[in-house]
Amino acid sequence: MFQNLVFLKKVERQVIDPYGSSVLKPRFVSHPQERLELVLEASRLPSMMLNTSSAANVVMLGAGYFNPLEGFMGLTEALKCAEKMQTKNGLFWPIPIINVCKDISAIKSTSRIALLDPNTDDNRAIAIMEIENIELVTREQLNLMAKHIFSTTDLAHPGVSTFMSLGSYVVSGKLQVLNYSYYQSKFPETFQTASQIRDKIGVLGWQKVVAFQTRNPMHLAHEELCRMAMEREEADGVIVHMLLGKLKQGDIPAHVRDSCIRLVAERYFPRNKMLVSGYGFDMLYAGPREAILHAIVRQNMGASHLIVGRDHAGVGSYYGAFDAQEIFKNKQVRGALDIDIFCADHTAFSKKLGSVVMMSEAKDHDESDFLLISGTKLREMLANGIEPPAEFCRPEVASMLIKHYRS
Ligand code: ADX
Repeated sequence: MFQNLVFLKKVERQVIDPYGSSVLKPRFVSHPQERLELVLEASRLPSMMLNTSSAANVVMLGAGYFNPLEGFMGLTEALKCAEKMQTKNGLFWPIPIINVCKDISAIKSTSRIALLDPNTDDNRAIAIMEIENIELVTREQLNLMAKHIFSTTDLAHPGVSTFMSLGSYVVSGKLQVLNYSYYQSKFPETFQTASQIRDKIGVLGWQKVVAFQTRNPMHLAHEELCRMAMEREEADGVIVHMLLGKLKQGDIPAHVRDSCIRLVAERYFPRNKMLVSGYGFDMLYAGPREAILHAIVRQNMGASHLIVGRDHAGVGSYYGAFDAQEIFKNKQVRGALDIDIFCADHTAFSKKLGSVVMMSEAKDHDESDFLLISGTKLREMLANGIEPPAEFCRPEVASMLIKHYRS
């Protein structure tokens, strides 16, 4: 009588643990009453205006992406982090999270301060900080950190020039974050915290989740990288997680990229297989070191895999095309992270095969068999109203980009 009964074993789906702790501990004060009281307190506290890099760090700490960090590092910790990729407690961390400023006159003799947001019209307080230390940082120390983080001290590197111009005081301490700057109002659909993405992954019942970091609109190669990673890793879904913060001159602004990526996700991916989302951080262009930070950020949001392709987080010719993949072979790096890296070779349209492929996997091809368009060439085409070929970029995306260049 029982032979027709089917016992369904509940499949336990589990989202990957956050980085460095079993539970995500965002620095955003989520209790509304507590937050309101802190906002009132902030209006009476001595304050300092953040620079945009520090403000981006606050948003990341608030949103849980920098879990388990609790605030800004002091100078000794920052130097150790830059050199050894470790926090003062020995936690593996690839890039110092610091608040460097030029003027400390208003906060010298106080322990609790409001941090003001440079990126909103009213410069409202974005966080309250319990000051642990205010320290002078020398040009040599900044240079040393830049050398470790960016592998160069060349001021022509956009990340280095920003880093070296931040100021000469390091103000450190724990944070209580009060808001997410302009990201929620400017990108209501796209900006999400690590906790929100984790929850969504849990609701969808996904376990194997591929994250795709991008600061670009989606070209065919990007699309195909997402497809390949999903298929080869047998993933439940992919999350396009775009950078919404500041970029260098000439990069496509976030609202334009957001529209392009949403169009591609809606038209060319199965429903509920691709989530489009974004985070509020400024691009560092730190190549390998930034790739590790990207991996931590994605583990915190619940992704089990991160795509790292050609010249990930790179700029100019400061890094080798696959340096950002190489660094994940380092024992210290691999040992620290639970997230897996999906390494992708240079991907391009093969004229012989009529599809987008990883170049190393295409047999009997030489470079002329691929459709290769450099970033500079692409920008030139778009600025002149010339549509790139459909084998490189979806025509709908091309026309959005041309419209952007014309405006
Ligand atoms: S990034 O600065 O955010 O890394 P981008 O948005 O261009 O830049 O790239 C997003 C991801 O796709 C990165 O992992 C990058 O290495 C990868 N990628 C972009 N284009 C290609 C390509 N043609 N071949 C292989 N990987 C690529």
